[in-house]
Amino acid sequence: MAEKQTMPYVCHVLVCTNDRHGERKSCADGDNPAVRKQLKDEVKKRGWLGKVRVSQCGCMGLCAGGPNVAVYPHKIWFADVRLEDVGGILDTIQTLLDDTA
Ligand code: FES
Repeated sequence: MAEKQTMPYVCHVLVCTNDRHGERKSCADGDNPAVRKQLKDEVKKRGWLGKVRVSQCGCMGLCAGGPNVAVYPHKIWFADVRLEDVGGILDTIQTLLDDTA
């Protein structure tokens, strides 16, 4: 039987990297693989490891508005994400970390 636990991170950032190879819109059509890498690099650089986890994920069901990035458990959703939006996403995460300090 599964063991129910409390989530160990303050924020879990899910970056959809689903790729439908042009058959229809998917988050990999944008810069999301690069967005994921930059978020991961910044989390490490800022010393947030253990508090913030960045994970790639499959389709989250709102493809038309993508590329999508979600922040849990805060119910924050970034749509139409581009590489230049990473700074704003990091600012949001910083605020969430400040709120739990
Ligand atoms: S492909 Fe990213 S939400 Fe569906």
